[in-house]
Amino acid sequence: MDTLLDIRNLKMNFGGLKVTDDVSLNLAKGSRTALIGPNGAGKTTLINLIAGAYRPTSGSISLMGQDVTGMKDTDRVRLGLIRSFQITRLFPDLTVIDHLAMAILQREGRSAGMFKSYHRMPEVLDEAMEALARLRLDPLANRVVAQIAYGQQRLLEIAIALVLKPKVLLLDEPAAGIPSSDMDRVVAALDNLPAELAVLLIDHDMDLVRRFAREVIVLSSGAVIFRGTPEQLGSDPRVRSAYLGEDA
Ligand SMILES: Nc1ncnc2c1ncn2[C@@H]1O[C@H](COP(=O)(O)OP(=O)(O)O)[C@@H](O)[C@H]1O
Ligand SMILES: [Mg+2]
Repeated sequence: MDTLLDIRNLKMNFGGLKVTDDVSLNLAKGSRTALIGPNGAGKTTLINLIAGAYRPTSGSISLMGQDVTGMKDTDRVRLGLIRSFQITRLFPDLTVIDHLAMAILQREGRSAGMFKSYHRMPEVLDEAMEALARLRLDPLANRVVAQIAYGQQRLLEIAIALVLKPKVLLLDEPAAGIPSSDMDRVVAALDNLPAELAVLLIDHDMDLVRRFAREVIVLSSGAVIFRGTPEQLGSDPRVRSAYLGEDA
């Protein structure tokens, strides 16, 4: 079987609120799945559950056949389950390439003390530059993060996620706050992801979702209300009312 991530009957309650309501889904090798839904539908919570930031109220999560429901988030990273955040977590005073080098050294289990000397490690430098080139960030390698555009910061986050060698990549609104003029760069970056990687993408931009996804899952009030191709999405009455309900 090519199933990398398998979620069964996942439930999460915050107080009395059912934020994740019996969600089951699986991602196969190479999958390109978009997770969409109105604000507050529980998309980020689902990613938090998968990544191990929250423990579910019930249900199970398995990664490559291994039950990881009770596993620490850092151990899931080691197995190849990598997320990016809806809110950027970068260090403004470090350069673009510093971030990549740090991630590579962390992946290799080398001490933080090594960080200062990565300039003398050709294998780290080469790999970092290659990862930046994949997202066309290589011209910015030596700029500090505070001096690059917001959209470039979001692309940097994806580059960091990629050097961690993910098998499953969870992207929470990677295009949030990126001007539509830069959207082509995001689409190109997503097109450039390794083919066998399984990707779950949350985004509100329907154009991006259509260009990226082969499968779409719609969450509403914590529950899956639609699963199908991007083409089937527009004609689904439950999806329409979920989005119209947001306005009501
Ligand atoms: N840590 C938390 N404690 C209590 N309620 C939370 C917590 N995290 C999320 N929620 C609630 O869960 C619901 C879903 O939030 P979220 O998963 O962020 O939605 P989405 O990402 O789809 O916009 C919201 O009503 C939110 O207020
Ligand atoms: Mg969210």
